[in-house]
Amino acid sequence: MNNTTLSKFIKDIPNFPKEGIVFKDISPLLASKEARESMTQSLIAPYKDKNIDVVIGIESRGFLFGMLMADALNAKFVMMRKPGKLPGEIISQEYQLEYGTDTLEIQKDSLSSRDNVLIHDDVLATGGTAAAALSLVEQTGATTVGYSFIIELDFLKGKDLLKNPNVHSILHY
Ligand code: PRP
Ligand code: MG
Repeated sequence: MNNTTLSKFIKDIPNFPKEGIVFKDISPLLASKEARESMTQSLIAPYKDKNIDVVIGIESRGFLFGMLMADALNAKFVMMRKPGKLPGEIISQEYQLEYGTDTLEIQKDSLSSRDNVLIHDDVLATGGTAAAALSLVEQTGATTVGYSFIIELDFLKGKDLLKNPNVHSILHY
């Protein structure tokens, strides 16, 4: 499937979760085996020969394709979670939201300093989440090869917040 066909599996939901916001619903993409496979191949395409050891998926919608990408790249899959969810020794990173702050966490022993990491999430919006994810990986000493997103909301300029310039998004709005 080309990107135009894949884009038909993303549904615009006006005024969700708030008035004036158009929510990008990936449910139709999840529902189709053919579309899932095609999206997974598109997501990993720039990273196939980059010796990716670990794909990181950001809770919660980053888990869905993150795991499929890890399978396709023969890599490990590691969860990056919202606070208080992971057992053992963890590293935390706080980041700014429109109102207030949030935190992402990773298990300290889930990455080694020799790992080449690919960070995945469903959407790049303001970039706060993705920037925090990069900072967490840096704290483990692992190398972030790049980012992979299904959707990038270009008008929010999230890419400007990301220190790693290797940002690949399949669909742009
Ligand atoms: C959404 C989306 C990204 C993040 C992008 O997640 O899935 O993770 O926001 O926003 P940003 O670029 O402005 O940081 P959300 O926190 O809504 O949670 P979910 O994935 O658990 O649905
Ligand atoms: Mg999310």
